[in-house]
Amino acid sequence: MPKSVPDPNLLVGLDTSDDAGVYKINNETALVQTLDFFTPIVDDPYMFGQIAAANSLSDIYAMGGKPITVMNIVGFPINKLDKSILADILAGASDKVRESGAVLVGGHSIDDQEPKFGLSVTGTVHPERVRTNAAAKPGDSLILTKPIGVGILTQAIKKDMLDQEGIDRVMKVMAALNKEAAEAMDNFNVNACTDVTGFGLLGHAMEIAEGSGTGITIDSKSVPVLPKTRELAEQNIIPGGSKKNHKWLTERIQYENVDEVDQWILCDAITSGGLLISVPEEEAEALLGVLHENGVQSAAIIGKVTDKQPGRITVIG
Ligand code: CO
Ligand code: CO
Ligand code: CO
Repeated sequence: MPKSVPDPNLLVGLDTSDDAGVYKINNETALVQTLDFFTPIVDDPYMFGQIAAANSLSDIYAMGGKPITVMNIVGFPINKLDKSILADILAGASDKVRESGAVLVGGHSIDDQEPKFGLSVTGTVHPERVRTNAAAKPGDSLILTKPIGVGILTQAIKKDMLDQEGIDRVMKVMAALNKEAAEAMDNFNVNACTDVTGFGLLGHAMEIAEGSGTGITIDSKSVPVLPKTRELAEQNIIPGGSKKNHKWLTERIQYENVDEVDQWILCDAITSGGLLISVPEEEAEALLGVLHENGVQSAAIIGKVTDKQPGRITVIG
């Protein structure tokens, strides 16, 4: 039996827990491919479509790529739910895809017990400008481009504990594309990037620490958090996934003057979160300036990459 030879053109594959696969076509172009789908997280089908699309497109942006084509993946209870609901989900996704500049080229749907929706996205990136989560360098600053608290706030929506203003705010954050943030990175020597999703801010920061063999220090006070998050977390409105994140991360995180409520918030499982960008400290302020100019208002420097305690995170209160 011939041994399977690793394909030299596979730049990012299954070995690292990165956001998307990257395959080199030639010296100028590599393909970036990703797939994501889930059950509805909000009641409004149009909004769900927008959020699902923003979430799937985000993995392309997190690799430094530009989305080119998308395909829809649909599971829908055809005999139980009105078809207009599916039409609204697809319209939401389609509007978001158009905003990204990509084109919808097809998809597949099946009859299913409960609705599921997502997208497979193909993008391109220059092979030498791939932003993995495994190349952060000691001395880098970490920038987060969207506020956290999304998991806790969507949990509160399900329990009818969030007012309309709060609902609109969290929907807007989830539906926002990471396009402008990704474009801002283009002219900087970004060493690593990922997007913050199901493992929470600290879980995805841990992927960078592990992948890069570095330590990370997070200044919890500089992390942008959505209004009402803390208040709701104090009432134990925490999604199961966020508590799970907190538990599996706890042995590798040292919290200094950070109470348990803030620890949960930092581990909160997010849908369609922001980019977590590792950039040399001397470029961090300039990149932050471009992010703010591009309309990514919540972007903030939240910590740094260190050469101490590789694969571990220190969070300072
Ligand atoms: Co991702
Ligand atoms: Co993903
Ligand atoms: Co990346």
